[in-house]
Amino acid sequence: MEYAASKQLPFCLVVEAPTLFRLAGDVHGLSVLDLPCGDGTYSRALARRGAASVLGVDLSGAMVERARSIEREEPLGLEHRIGDAATLGKISAFDLIVACYLFNYARIADELLAFTRSIHANLRRRGRLVGINDNPRTSPERYGSYDAFGFSRDIDRPRREGSRIRYTFPKPDGTNLGFDNFWLAPETYAEVFATAGLHGFQFVDPEVGSPRQPGLHSVARLRAGLPDHRSRCVSLVRGGPGARP
Ligand SMILES: C[S@@+](CC[C@H](N)C(=O)[O-])C[C@H]1O[C@@H](n2cnc3c(N)ncnc32)[C@H](O)[C@@H]1O
Repeated sequence: MEYAASKQLPFCLVVEAPTLFRLAGDVHGLSVLDLPCGDGTYSRALARRGAASVLGVDLSGAMVERARSIEREEPLGLEHRIGDAATLGKISAFDLIVACYLFNYARIADELLAFTRSIHANLRRRGRLVGINDNPRTSPERYGSYDAFGFSRDIDRPRREGSRIRYTFPKPDGTNLGFDNFWLAPETYAEVFATAGLHGFQFVDPEVGSPRQPGLHSVARLRAGLPDHRSRCVSLVRGGPGARP
């Protein structure tokens, strides 16, 4: 399965996951919404880290079926549903929402606003949103090859709101795995999150964890690649009315 393999790339194991878990902090006893959940990789990781409940939602029926199938094989008490983050409505009041690679699907500010309004509707007062996102702060000249991470990232030019960002991952069989994100300006993110009532918005620098399996790129090499790193994390806190954190 290509997607599962992509979550085993050095970048995911050594940078993405450690950064996400640092942002999420202690999840013991928390109710968590994983949006979008993909095949449930982070739903399962959060459950194993002690979350009281995890609901995963994804637009893709195939991804949700994959997550459910793994849950049937290795039950952790997880639930996964098909749903569109733009039109989710209120499901519950979660302590924590984890949004890994959601916002970078928005092509225009209104789509980003729809995502953030769904998140606001599903966070309890003082709940937290953390996530991983394509880094909109990348300087325009820094697209192209990311050798240390084994992929390339190109953008349609001139870069403007909605520009397509294409990720390409070479596979061992000589073919490529590719997918698209879209660029919105950092200022657009800040304005939209504020409009949705998600206060405390900030981009957070990634960190490099320790490789846990042989054959990964060395940490030193990954560190060298970090200033031009593909992702920055988005860490946000929702404050209630008059309760800005
Ligand atoms: C790169 S994957 C990330 C999945 C997971 N968060 C992770 O990090 O492993 C992006 C996922 O977003 C889902 N997606 C895209 N647009 C969505 C939307 N509007 N609502 C819910 N899921 C969406 C896709 O189906 C895909 O599974």
